[in-house]
Amino acid sequence: MRLSDCHNFMDFRKLAKKRLPSPIFNYIDGAADDEKTYRRNTQSFDDCDLIPNILQGTDEIDMSVEVLGQKLQLPIYCSPTALQRLFHHDGENAVAAAAEKFGTMFGVSSLGTVSLTEIRNKFKTPQCYQFYFHKDRGLNKAMLESAKEAGVEVMMLTVDTITGGNRERDLRTGFSIPFKLTLAGIMQFAIKPMWGINYLTHPKFALPQLDDFVDMSEGALSIGSYFTEMLDPTMNWKDVEEMVEFWDGQFCLKGVMSADDAKRAAEIGCKGIVVSNHGGRQLDGSRSPFDQLAEIVDAVGDKIDVIMDSGVQRGTHVLKALSLGAKAVGGGRFYLYALAAAGQAGVERALTLMKQEIERDMRLMGVKSIAELSRKNLRFR
Ligand code: FNR
Ligand code: LAC
Repeated sequence: MRLSDCHNFMDFRKLAKKRLPSPIFNYIDGAADDEKTYRRNTQSFDDCDLIPNILQGTDEIDMSVEVLGQKLQLPIYCSPTALQRLFHHDGENAVAAAAEKFGTMFGVSSLGTVSLTEIRNKFKTPQCYQFYFHKDRGLNKAMLESAKEAGVEVMMLTVDTITGGNRERDLRTGFSIPFKLTLAGIMQFAIKPMWGINYLTHPKFALPQLDDFVDMSEGALSIGSYFTEMLDPTMNWKDVEEMVEFWDGQFCLKGVMSADDAKRAAEIGCKGIVVSNHGGRQLDGSRSPFDQLAEIVDAVGDKIDVIMDSGVQRGTHVLKALSLGAKAVGGGRFYLYALAAAGQAGVERALTLMKQEIERDMRLMGVKSIAELSRKNLRFR
C-alpha cells in the first residue's frame, strides 16, 4: 500500500498502522476507557442528513472562512497535537508546511516536538498555540511570553485535560516519552526498522516548550503522569481571566462542552471556544461535540466564534458542522495518520482530498460560499 492508494481517512489509517511501531500507532488511534465517545464522535454525523438545493449555478466555490480574526482558505484546520516527530521525523514542520500551502491554520502543542518560535518564523500561515496550564507558574509565564513574542496569532487553552484520560491501549503497550516499553512493545519497534532508522538519524527527540522546566533524565514520562503530575488541577475561571487579560488578543478555550461554560467563556473575554472532547481521549461517556453543537451555538454563537473538533473524517462532516453554526472545524487524526503515512506529502494529500470533498459537496448542496450554509440544509433523524 502506498500514499497514492489512500483515498480517505481509513486508507491513511491503514498505511499509518503499517508504518508505525504499534505503541505509537495505538497512542494516536486510541481513546479513553471503552472508546465509546470516540466512536460516537463520528457516528453522530450520521444522525443528521444534508438536504441539497438544486439549480443554484455553482461554478465558483469559495470555501474560505473567517475565524478568531484569521482568514482561512479552508474551513478545516490542523488541531494542535502532541509529539508529532514521533509520528514522522519531519513532525510539526511537515504539518505547518502543508497547512501553509492550503492557507489554513495549524496548532503547536505544549507537548510539541518543535519550538513554537522556530515554527512561527518559518511559516506564514496562522498558527495557534495550545496551552497546558502547569503547576509551575514560571513555566506558564515563560510559555505565554514566548508565544506573544513570537507573534502567534491564536492562544488556545485546553481545559479538558485536568487529569489524564484512561487510555488502556497505552497502559498495555507501555507507551511513554522518551521510550520505556513493555517487551512486546520493544518487539514492535524491531519489526518496523524504517521508523527506527529515521528516528535515530534525525534530530534528537525533544519537547522544546518544556525542556527548560522538565527534567527527563530520570526516566520516561507517560502522558498520563504528565497530566497528573505537571498540570495544575486547581486551574479555575479566575486563572483563565488573568491569562485572557495578559494575552490581550485572540484567546480561545478548547474543550468546552456545556452552554453555561460557553457563556462564561464569552463573559471573561474569550474570542472563541472549541467544542471538543479531545477526540474521545479524556472522558469516555461524554457527549459528542456534533451532538452538542446546536445548543452551544444558540447560547453564544452571536457573541464569540464557536468551533468544533472530534470525529471529523469527511467533507460532509465539515459541512454539517458549519451548517449548524460552527465558524470552522478542527481535525486531529485526519492529518496525523497522513503524517505518519508519508510526512508532508501525506498531510498535503489528506488536505487535498478534504478540499476536493468539501468543494464537490458544496456544489452538490447548491451553495457557493460557506455563509450560504444554514440549518435549513439539515434534518435530524
Ligand atoms: C491530541 N489532541 C491534543 N489536544 C491538545 O489540546 N493538546 C495536545 O497536545 C493534543 N495531543 C493530541 C495527540 C493525539 C495523538 C491526538 C489524536 C489528539 C486532541 C486534538 O487536538 C483534537 O482535539 C482531537 O484530535 C480531535 O479529534 P479527532 O479529529 O482526532 O477525532
Ligand atoms: C493527548 C494529549 C497530549 O491527547 O493531549 O495525548
